[in-house]
Amino acid sequence: MAFHPPEPFRIKMVEPIKLLDRDAREAAIRRANYNLFSLRAEDIFIDLFTDSGTSAMSQKQWAAMLEGDEAYAGARSYFRLTEVIEDIFGFSYFLPTHQGRAAENILSACLVKPGDYIPSNTHFDTGYANICDRGGYPVNFVIDEAHNPTLYHPFKGNMDIQKLRDFIKQTGPDQIPFGMITITNNAGGGQPVSMENLRTVSQTYKEFGIPFFIDACRFAENAYFIKLREPGYADKSPLEISREIFALADGMTMSAKKDGIVNIGGFIAMNNEALFEQARNELLIREGFPTYGGLAGRDLDAMAVGLREALEEEYLAYRLGQTAYLAARLRELEIPIIEPSGGHAVYVDAGLLLPHIPQEQFPGQSLSVELYLEGGIRTVEIGSLGFAHPEPQTGQMVYPKLELVRLALPRRVYTQSHLDYVAETFGKTVARREQIPGYRLIYAAKLMRQFTAQLEPIQLEAHLSEPSLAIGRL
Ligand code: F0G
Repeated sequence: MAFHPPEPFRIKMVEPIKLLDRDAREAAIRRANYNLFSLRAEDIFIDLFTDSGTSAMSQKQWAAMLEGDEAYAGARSYFRLTEVIEDIFGFSYFLPTHQGRAAENILSACLVKPGDYIPSNTHFDTGYANICDRGGYPVNFVIDEAHNPTLYHPFKGNMDIQKLRDFIKQTGPDQIPFGMITITNNAGGGQPVSMENLRTVSQTYKEFGIPFFIDACRFAENAYFIKLREPGYADKSPLEISREIFALADGMTMSAKKDGIVNIGGFIAMNNEALFEQARNELLIREGFPTYGGLAGRDLDAMAVGLREALEEEYLAYRLGQTAYLAARLRELEIPIIEPSGGHAVYVDAGLLLPHIPQEQFPGQSLSVELYLEGGIRTVEIGSLGFAHPEPQTGQMVYPKLELVRLALPRRVYTQSHLDYVAETFGKTVARREQIPGYRLIYAAKLMRQFTAQLEPIQLEAHLSEPSLAIGRL
């Protein structure tokens, strides 16, 4: 059985959740046009949609919120957060933002010109869209091993250094205003990046005079993976490892909704003073005054406490243990998952599980819809619906290598019996997998279409209430 240290906390406040009956679930998903973003949260039993902004705050965080200083400028909350950010990340300047994509928008607004290229291991969709929105091209250079779901590699989020170097030489550093890396690599399976790889990426960018920014949403989980898996780090604390990571970079963007353990918040940090001044002007126009960004003073205080709690070893052992436990339960059912399991989520290989559904009919979305119908569970597709895109030069559709469904675990929210229920629901769903239909789009926006897309099942809807009749129709 998997390693699952007991929760290093007990529950003091509860939020009721309810499982609707099958008819009500069918009606709800139809109303949502088969897009789980459009469901009402109260119609969901277990919500594994995202670990972003959905975590439970601690008593210390709630207490800190009461001390929030709501002064428009120069609030005490800002200085308390400044101290924490300086201590963990060590950059000379930072600006609070309302969430991660606001930080990404500021970075892109300041640095991306039309025709520029921004390399990363794998850009997450918000960073990707922000670069495209400024006329730039995001490019991904994750190691090839990342595309092999069953292969064990301790650091599947690593960048392929040779590919990165070749690309920089071929493109010319002038067309690369900054380089990135995402820790952990969310779009690539929540996989960590090793310190060795981070060091080499940093050296490579430096060699060509390219500023290096880290998308640091899940930095604490990445640091703990380094401690567990990388030689030489077993005796270092997650805080020490984090400091070592960020000393390699010129700046970072952060969604504190992940490893800041808050419901809203983020920031951008950097060492370059001129860039800071430019970023501050962008912030002033769209987010707010530089000492609060788009946030209330109390949000800054919750973030200051949360960033420290995310680095506590007992918490990280439980956190990564919980993900590993869910992965083990799914493995027992022979559900194909990305190996090894990630930090914040387990990624199921829907393409392999539903081979009868072609990529252009969204097998990941099909599985997500089916898990909701079976057990009121909300998951998210990370496949063709979210990531298929026209190739910039030819306009031809490029499909992602994998069709995944992500089961993201909110921090400190669900217990082991919730995870057991998720595994049981999976078991029932895959038992009738041949009956699961593909989907077609009936509405799609140009950018980030997964959020507002409307879909319909490709076969007759009769299978919803009469599963046995649907056999053989595909
Ligand atoms: N970068 C990464 C790696 C992310 O995972 C996210 C958000 C962002 C940036 C943007 O942050 O939402 O605060 O604007 N990921 C969420 C998720 C939405 O579900 O994985 P944001």
